[in-house]
Amino acid sequence: MSELYTKGYKVVRNAVSKKLTSFVAMQVNMQKDYENFSRGLPLNSYVAWDPQQAFSQGDSQVPHAYSFHRTFCTESLLMTMLPFMESQTNKKLFPTYSYGRIYFQDAVLEIHKDRPSCEYSATIALETNGQPWEIYFQGLDGKVNGVTLNDGDLCIYLGTQVHHWREKLNGNKYMQLFLHYVDKNGPHADWAFDKRPMLGAPTETQKCENMIHLQTGNNVKVNQNQQTLEW
Ligand SMILES: [Fe+2]
Repeated sequence: MSELYTKGYKVVRNAVSKKLTSFVAMQVNMQKDYENFSRGLPLNSYVAWDPQQAFSQGDSQVPHAYSFHRTFCTESLLMTMLPFMESQTNKKLFPTYSYGRIYFQDAVLEIHKDRPSCEYSATIALETNGQPWEIYFQGLDGKVNGVTLNDGDLCIYLGTQVHHWREKLNGNKYMQLFLHYVDKNGPHADWAFDKRPMLGAPTETQKCENMIHLQTGNNVKVNQNQQTLEW
């Protein structure tokens, strides 16, 4: 049986080409820099999460970060990696959403499990700047292990089942991306596209009932009552 199912996580080295990781990283850095530019902030700065502020770039889980959610670029990678993830998990999957962060110095990812949309997840190192930073898992076997990923390496894990976390970042900057999927035939299949009408759509478009999914170009169809999804 695959390590994924015995331990709850599995590392795959060089799963994404360095050309592709640097392409995605460039897009993310450009997005952050433009946000800063448009607000008159230094390009190399970030605005830590603060619930009192109208604009912040971190999130409540990791304040010392620039977080990016379902960008067109990363949602495209979510679709691109679907066949790979299906072969690694030996499941037919629906993509749910992509989410990433540029972690900055002192960032910490507290120990947690994920919500149902993250049943099958991958964390991909996009831009480590030569300073790999461990992500820890408490496996299904109860053992704790730190995993170090280089650019293009990924770790697939059962997000709803295994605890995972990162200790304080001592480096300056570390960019990482999560790709999330659910089992097409599993208990969380109704979280396809994270309950959005399509990939790339904002979270605010999430609807729980009477959704109509239209994902052209990938042969994804979901009928109005969500009973059948066909690829
Ligand atoms: Fe998580």
